[in-house]
Amino acid sequence: MYSFLNNEFLSAEKTFIHASDLATQRGYGIFDFFKIMNGRLLFVEDYFDRFYRSAEIMRLPISLSREELKKVILELVQKNGVSDCGIKMILTGGYSPGGYEIASPNLIITQHSLTMPGTPVLDKGIKIITHEYVRDIPHVKTINYITGIWLQKRIKDEHAADVLYHLNGLVSEFPRCNLFIVKEDRTVITPAKRVLHGITRKNILNLNGKDFSIREDDVSLQDVFKAKEVFLTSTTKRVIPIVQVDDTMIGIGKPGEISLRILEALIETENKN
Ligand SMILES: Cc1ncc(COP(=O)(O)O)c(C=O)c1O
Repeated sequence: MYSFLNNEFLSAEKTFIHASDLATQRGYGIFDFFKIMNGRLLFVEDYFDRFYRSAEIMRLPISLSREELKKVILELVQKNGVSDCGIKMILTGGYSPGGYEIASPNLIITQHSLTMPGTPVLDKGIKIITHEYVRDIPHVKTINYITGIWLQKRIKDEHAADVLYHLNGLVSEFPRCNLFIVKEDRTVITPAKRVLHGITRKNILNLNGKDFSIREDDVSLQDVFKAKEVFLTSTTKRVIPIVQVDDTMIGIGKPGEISLRILEALIETENKN
């Protein structure tokens, strides 16, 4: 497999950055990730918008224009001969002489195999736990997943699949996914504040349900416990139903009908893109 580093294609095993990079020294960098299915770059403009916006906010110039970046990605996919995959674009703080100031960013592009959630998880749903925390600069897709990775052991010990962040009674998101709840009156709500604006979240907000409405708003922990349905969303997971939050069963403890309809509609949106 090939990867891309700054201006050249390299064998993936030989794609190295130097230890002085601000990503290694201080965890400073951003990234983004999107899917290619049957050779189609799904919602690529949305992911590029977020990547370039994150870069600008973090004061990291991207050396390639959007058109050049797309050309590099298509060439990478062609070189690797894999048309169903995930593409990860990473932009680091660069080789920083003092280890604390932003330097010239390194752009790394890697291609990954994709495994979408299978039937068992969609049939049964998952348990999640909660944790008091808000990500640093939540609207930016930084490479900082320290708390999420640190919580992996607790998630495993509590036989859960993920962890939902909350602060002062309001929930926000998961380390790598957004949250949606379905209320008794069939309104579907996703937290409005302190979240990454997920592309899957955006696609779901654009869905027009015949007998449900979708919007952004504040969501409290109590709203989650009392919800009829709860689910998480992301590029790689699409929609995963949540049937237990800490010790509380959600709804009747089974994946909800609206969650599964939203998943179907999302797949349709992907197929049309
Ligand atoms: C913090 C965070 N929230 C939400 C998401 C989901 O975003 P998307 O639907 O664009 O994959 C991600 C994706 O990695 C994430 O890192």
